[in-house]
Amino acid sequence: MKERVEVMISSEEISKRLEEIAKQVQEDFHGEQIELVCVLKGGVVTMVELAKKLRMPVTMNFMDVSSYGDGTESSGHIKILRDLDEDITGKNVLLVEDIIDSGRTLGLLRTLLIQRNPKLFKICTLLDKPDRRVTQVPVDYVGFTIPDAFVVGYGLDYAQKYRNLDYVGVVHFEEE
Ligand code: IMP
Ligand code: MG
Repeated sequence: MKERVEVMISSEEISKRLEEIAKQVQEDFHGEQIELVCVLKGGVVTMVELAKKLRMPVTMNFMDVSSYGDGTESSGHIKILRDLDEDITGKNVLLVEDIIDSGRTLGLLRTLLIQRNPKLFKICTLLDKPDRRVTQVPVDYVGFTIPDAFVVGYGLDYAQKYRNLDYVGVVHFEEE
């Protein structure tokens, strides 16, 4: 099987949307310092690009969870592979994800992080695939709502590839 990637959301569209989200984040957090929590590895591009647009003090931290293998289906199991290295109690926290699909990952992370008593906790995801939701999770900032397709780019991978694309694309699988 060979993959072909077709552009779904251009780099310009993403940049424009992240600019709008950054303005909203500044308003909602009253320009106070925030800690961006990135869900590795997919959230890293969105977190960095959003951080560059924020006009307020920003710190960054990382979590790694696993829910998918090298395939395109959620296993339904989530493991914390790397936890935050600092306490978030009393901090403004914005969790940044690449995509919300079944909602299992964000559902678990949200519960876990809220238990640590942050001052204000919000979630941002670049993409939302609502058709496949199993766990309902309130998301504060959604870049784009997309149909049920397997996408890559802007942090998202297929078998660890394509994370570096500056756009979001749909993967088509073709016979060789
Ligand atoms: P959820 O727990 O099903 O919501 O899965 C979310 C995680 O699955 C995301 O953080 C991605 O890493 C991965 N994922 C879901 N859909 C896609 C996709 O279309 N392309 C690449 N990764 C995806
Ligand atoms: Mg992810």
